Amino acid sequence: MNKGCFITLEGGEGMGKTTNLVFIRDFLVSLGKRVIVTREPGGTPLGERIRDLFLTGGEIAPETELLLVFAARAQHLRDVIEPALASDAWVVCDRFTDASYAYQGGGRHVDSEFILNLEKMVQKGRKPDLTLLFDAPPEIGIARAKNRGVSDRMEAESLAFHSRVRNTYLLLAGLFPDRIRLVDASLPLENVQKAITTHLKSLCVP
Ligand code: TMP
Repeated sequence: MNKGCFITLEGGEGMGKTTNLVFIRDFLVSLGKRVIVTREPGGTPLGERIRDLFLTGGEIAPETELLLVFAARAQHLRDVIEPALASDAWVVCDRFTDASYAYQGGGRHVDSEFILNLEKMVQKGRKPDLTLLFDAPPEIGIARAKNRGVSDRMEAESLAFHSRVRNTYLLLAGLFPDRIRLVDASLPLENVQKAITTHLKSLCVP
C-alpha cells in the first residue's frame, strides 16, 4: 500500500480547477506531504505535444480524440504517476479518465465499453483515491472561460455538448460516491476551499 494518494480534479470548463489545484498543493505541502502536480492531457513532453494537437487540431473523430487522451495517459502513468506514487509522493492531477467518460463518452457519444476497455488496458487497475468534481451549470463556466480569451476546441463546443459533459460527470459521481466528491463551484472561493479541505481531511489526511 502506497503512503501517497492519487487525487484528481474534474469538472466542466471554467470551474476553477486551476486556482484550486494551487490551493490543494499548498494545503498538502503545509501538512508535510511531497506533492507532484500534473495534468491531462499532458504531464510529459510527449503528452504536452498530444495536448496541443488535441486542443488545436481542427476536426478530430471522436474515437481519435479518445485514443489521443489515452496515448498521453499511458505515457503519463508510466513516466510520472506510477513512479511518484511508488516513491510515496502525493499526485494531484488536473483531469484524468473521468474526463474521457464525460467528454468523449457523454459529449461525443463514444461507447462507454470502448472507454472501459482502454481504461483497463492502460491503467492496469490504477484509479484515483479521491476525485474532486467541481460542478456548476455550464453557462457559468463557459462565460468564465470566454472571459479568459480565445476558446480552445473543446471550450468552443455547444451548450448542449457541455450539458452532456456535466450530466455524465454527475452520473459518475452517483456511481462512485466513495471516490468522487462533489464541490459546488458556483459558491464563493472561500466556501469552495472549505469544502475541498473537508474532503481532503476525510479521505486522505490522517
Ligand atoms: P483543461 O484541462 O485546461 O480544462 O483542458 C483540457 C481539455 O481536454 C478539456 O476541455 C477537457 C478535455 N479532455 C477530454 O476531452 N478528455 C480527457 O480524457 C481529458 C483528460 C481532457
